[in-house]
Amino acid sequence: MMLTDRLEKIAECIDCKTLADVGTDHGYIPIYAVKNGKCEKAIACDVNKGPLKSADENISSYGLSAKIETRLSDGLEGLGTGEADTIVIAGMGGFLIRDILERGADRLDDNTTLLLQPMVAVAELREYLVKNGYNIFNERLSREGEKFYNILCVRKGKCEYTERDILLGRNIEDDENYGDYVNFHRGVVEKIIDGLSKSTGKEDEIAELKRKLDIMK
Ligand SMILES: C[S@@+](CC[C@H](N)C(=O)[O-])C[C@H]1O[C@@H](n2cnc3c(N)ncnc32)[C@H](O)[C@@H]1O
Repeated sequence: MMLTDRLEKIAECIDCKTLADVGTDHGYIPIYAVKNGKCEKAIACDVNKGPLKSADENISSYGLSAKIETRLSDGLEGLGTGEADTIVIAGMGGFLIRDILERGADRLDDNTTLLLQPMVAVAELREYLVKNGYNIFNERLSREGEKFYNILCVRKGKCEYTERDILLGRNIEDDENYGDYVNFHRGVVEKIIDGLSKSTGKEDEIAELKRKLDIMK
């Protein structure tokens, strides 16, 4: 099975007994993880019946129904505490991932590994994690064409993230795409500054964005 770079980078971080994939949709992550010995068994969860049906069909076409259970679940609600030692929440917005963690924090035990891959609001998710008793112990970067994806490897605990780490991430500086990634994010901020410069009364916002741009060098 061929995965996109984003899904492959997430799958590479899996090394566990029981995996839960929350918002599984097609079920590719648990299928790949079980097929490649990255976990012994998996629970593919989704809040919607349609995606869960498609996951079911894909799982059965790979002959993996005995090792991958599908489960209708809103966020972490359908999981028992500590039932999965690694939980993937990928392909959703950072605020939705934050809400899923807020509502389901009691389903995590101290050793649960979270692999979080937000599509947007990545910095906001990092900030939430750092301020709410999580340790982002590693990050990975994925590139598909001109799009960049961050994968946050997280457990309960503590970590010290600087403002630059919050904005851009940490432990990804050696990635071959890191330079392009930083330029991409600087470009986004520069475009916002350009837009704001056309209006009056935006001096404070512009000054704050310029400060961030400086940090993102
Ligand atoms: C864009 S897909 C991402 C699929 C896959 N995880 C990936 O990264 O390619 C988002 C999936 O999350 C599911 N979803 C959205 N909110 C959810 C929630 N609160 N709990 C569980 N699944 C959710 C949607 O039904 C959808 O199947």
